[in-house]
Amino acid sequence: MSLKNTIFLIILLLIVGVIFINSNKNTNNRWYTEKQVSIGKEVFLKNCASCHGTKAEKTVDWMKTLPDGSYPPPPLNENAHAWHHPKWQLLQIITEGGAPYDGKMPAFKDTLTEEEKEASISYFQSFWSDKVYEIWVDSRNGLKDK
Ligand code: HEC
Repeated sequence: MSLKNTIFLIILLLIVGVIFINSNKNTNNRWYTEKQVSIGKEVFLKNCASCHGTKAEKTVDWMKTLPDGSYPPPPLNENAHAWHHPKWQLLQIITEGGAPYDGKMPAFKDTLTEEEKEASISYFQSFWSDKVYEIWVDSRNGLKDK
């Protein structure tokens, strides 16, 4: 093999390597594992999807009040503001439901374990882009108003 071809091959391998590392980035840098996401998916489809959608995408018109004056379930993907809440607060909302805020979401304190609640969070967070995820991580460290 000529020197030129060898250099070309090395560069090609480097590019493939970088693409591979980046494609794995999503869960590597996050607080949860793939396993939690798959458990979370089951929990979510069974307990949450009827309101929040199978991919946490509902309700698209979440800012429009319902006939009774209440708000519909917000999407938990990055399109609404689930990412404004630190993890402890997300857990609290799932545990207590909407009652403390005069909301309609049911409480899951008697039906889901801590592991299942955490897993359900990992499932809807798996729909967040790295950018939104990073803002969320920063806001937990006190940069909340940014
Ligand atoms: C009966 C419908 C319903 C079900 C089932 C439901 N939710 Fe909700 N959820 C809502 C509504 C409505 C809100 C908005 C606050 C309120 O009115 O209580 C909400 C709000 C939330 C929020 C806060 C979002 C934000 O942007 O502030 C989170 C997080 C959440 N739900 C997670 C879940 C998870 C996880 C499950 C399943 C374990 C679930 N919800 C099941 C209706 C539901």
